[in-house]
This record gives sequence, C-alpha cells and structure tokens, in this order.
Amino acid sequence: MDTNPNNAVNPVESISTAEAAKKTRRRRKAKRTLAGAFALSIGLTGAGVLASALSPDAQVATAQKDDQALIQEGKDIYDVACITCHGANLQGIEDRGPSLVGIGAGSVYFQVHSGRMPMMSNDAQAERKTPRYTEQQTLALAAYVAANGGGPDIVYNEDGTIAQESLRGANYNGQIQAADVAKGSELFRMNCASCHNFTGKGGALSSGKYAPPLAPANEQEIYQAMLTGPQNMPKFSDRQLTADEKKDIIAFIKSAGETPSPAGWDLGGLGPVAEGLAMWIIGITALCAAAMWIGSRQ
Ligand code: HEC
Ligand code: HEC
Repeated sequence: MDTNPNNAVNPVESISTAEAAKKTRRRRKAKRTLAGAFALSIGLTGAGVLASALSPDAQVATAQKDDQALIQEGKDIYDVACITCHGANLQGIEDRGPSLVGIGAGSVYFQVHSGRMPMMSNDAQAERKTPRYTEQQTLALAAYVAANGGGPDIVYNEDGTIAQESLRGANYNGQIQAADVAKGSELFRMNCASCHNFTGKGGALSSGKYAPPLAPANEQEIYQAMLTGPQNMPKFSDRQLTADEKKDIIAFIKSAGETPSPAGWDLGGLGPVAEGLAMWIIGITALCAAAMWIGSRQ
C-alpha cells in the first residue's frame, strides 16, 4: 500500500492541480498569441520599411513610363476635363480658354498642380485650389500638351523625378544656403516685390486681380511661374533671370516660409534681411580692421 502522503488522492488537491495545469496552459497559449502578434507586427513593419525603401524606384518607374502611353493618358483626361474651354486641338475657344499650342509642359504643370486648372467658371482669375489630379496625371496632361508643340519644360532630376528641393538655391545640399538667400532676397525685391509684397504675402492688383501669397507654392511651381508668367505676371526668361538666379529666389521664398516664428509673430518676415545686414556689418567691420592693421604696419 502506498503510504506516501504525497501520492494520496486528495480530491481537493487534484482539482487544484488540474486548475493549475489549465492556468499554465492558458498562460502558455496567451504567450504564444503574444509572440504571434509580435512576430506579425515585426513582419508588417519590415514589409512597410521594405515597401517604402522600394517605392522611390517604383516612382521612377512610373515617371519613365512609356511616353506614348503617358501622352494617351493625358489625352484621355484632357478630352474630359479641358476640351470644353481649350478646344479639341488645343487651339483655344473664344471667351472660354486660350490656345495651349506651344505653351509647354511647365505651364501645364504649374496650372494643374496648383489646382488652377481645370477652371470651374470663367472668373477674373484662376484661383489656387486643391489639385484635382495626382502628380502622375498632371505629368500625363503636360506630356499630351507638350506633344502638340513644346515650350518651357518641367525641370527634372537626373533620375527622372521632378526637381523640388534641388531647386532651392544653386548650392542646395540639404540646407538652404545663406548666400543663396541673400542673393535671392535682393533679386526678389527687384523683380517680384512690387506685386507679391516684400515678404511674399501677395497683394491686390487692379480690376479685382491679385498677386497671390507665395508660401503654398512648391519649388517647381515657383520656377514655372517665373518661366511661364501666368496671367498678369510677367515672364522671366533665362536671359532676364538665369536658372541660378531663379533658384536663389526660390531659396529666399522657401527660407521665408520655413523660418519658424517662435513668438507667433514673424515681424513681417524680416529675419533673413536683418541677418544679412548683421553679417554685412560684421564683415565690413572685420575688413576695416584688417585694412587698418595692414596700414599700421607700414
Ligand atoms: C472653364 C474653362 C476652363 C477649363 C475647364 C480649363 N481651362 Fe485652362 N484656362 C482657362 C482660362 C480662362 C485660362 C486663362 C486664364 C488664366 O491663365 O488664368 C486658362 C489657362 C490655362 C493654361 C495657361 C495657358 C498659358 O498661356 O499660360 C493652361 C496650361 C491650362 N489652362 C490648362 C488646362 C488644362 C490642362 C485643363 C484641364 C485639366 C484646363 N486648362 C481646363 C479656362 C479653362
Ligand atoms: C506684375 C505683377 C507681378 C510680378 C512682378 C510678379 N508676379 Fe508672380 N504672380 C502675379 C500674379 C497676378 C499671379 C497670379 C496668376 C494666376 O493666378 O494665374 C502670380 C502668381 C505667382 C505664383 C503662383 C503662386 C501660387 O501659389 O499659386 C508664384 C510662385 C509667383 N507668382 C512668383 C513670382 C516671382 C518669384 C516673381 C519675381 C521673379 C513674381 N512672381 C513677379 C503677379 C506678379
């Protein structure tokens, strides 16, 4: 006979052992579920990272999509959204819309990317709106119009993507250069401030028209606005403002837009100008001191 008290069948104890076993099983199951969830989330994150790492290539691939297919895609959109005002052969329709023959891809990019086109009604001025089309569709429209007589083109990076940040100043390398901003500020005051205000906040023109604020425009839009001169804005060809000078102006506009105003009041965005002045004074003082020192040695 078994005398070991431990082996005695105690009903209470056996129930509790069963309970404990169940608990352990449950705990193990929970652990397994947790581990599964963890693995899944790692997997998903990994897939996300992988996807985002691969997608620039995907974008390049779409950007380099066969020209003919892109032009056809553009024509399909044009025939639905633009034809009523600009005509079946882009020749324009009196009192509705101008001819688009020879205006170039850059103008289409500016008009469609800034949401101006398609225009809703024949107002005094096409307004900036949320764009109706994706980047890809915008490029398709641009390709279609450009195929019917070219003009100023969109500026591309070497890899075929649309240039944005690289237009922020001649030496853009991840940071807007002070030298570009100073030059851009000067050029902006001479060429743009009369309409857009010294700080790019815009202003009213005659007969209900206005020069819009510049902050919402991206780099490519600013570049194309200068090249194509929408509505009352003059065109700035590369002879009037070289490509580098345009980039300096963009650097200035972008630096004004990106300078945070800690006190919630940007003092009319005078920052870069004030800083430029300070640097100028310090520089001149240093030069004078150097000149006096050289003079005193002779
Ligand atoms: C309701 C009429 C209307 C529709 C629809 C319309 N446009 Fe326009 N478009 C105009 C008018 C009017 C102008 C000239 C006024 C201006 O530039 O703001 C214009 C100007 C333009 C310009 C600038 C031309 C230049 O000389 O620089 C482009 C580019 C353009 N449209 C493209 C398009 C495209 C692409 C579509 C379709 C997605 C479209 N438009 C749809 C009326 C229209
Ligand atoms: C004679 C006045 C005038 C001058 C000078 C002028 N602009 Fe404009 N600008 C305009 C008008 C008017 C528009 C709006 C055109 C439209 O909506 O079709 C405009 C639009 C723009 C836009 C589009 C803004 C947006 O968010 O949609 C940009 C960018 C721009 N101008 C940049 C410049 C720059 C840079 C210069 C100087 C190199 C300049 N402009 C000089 C009148 C002017």
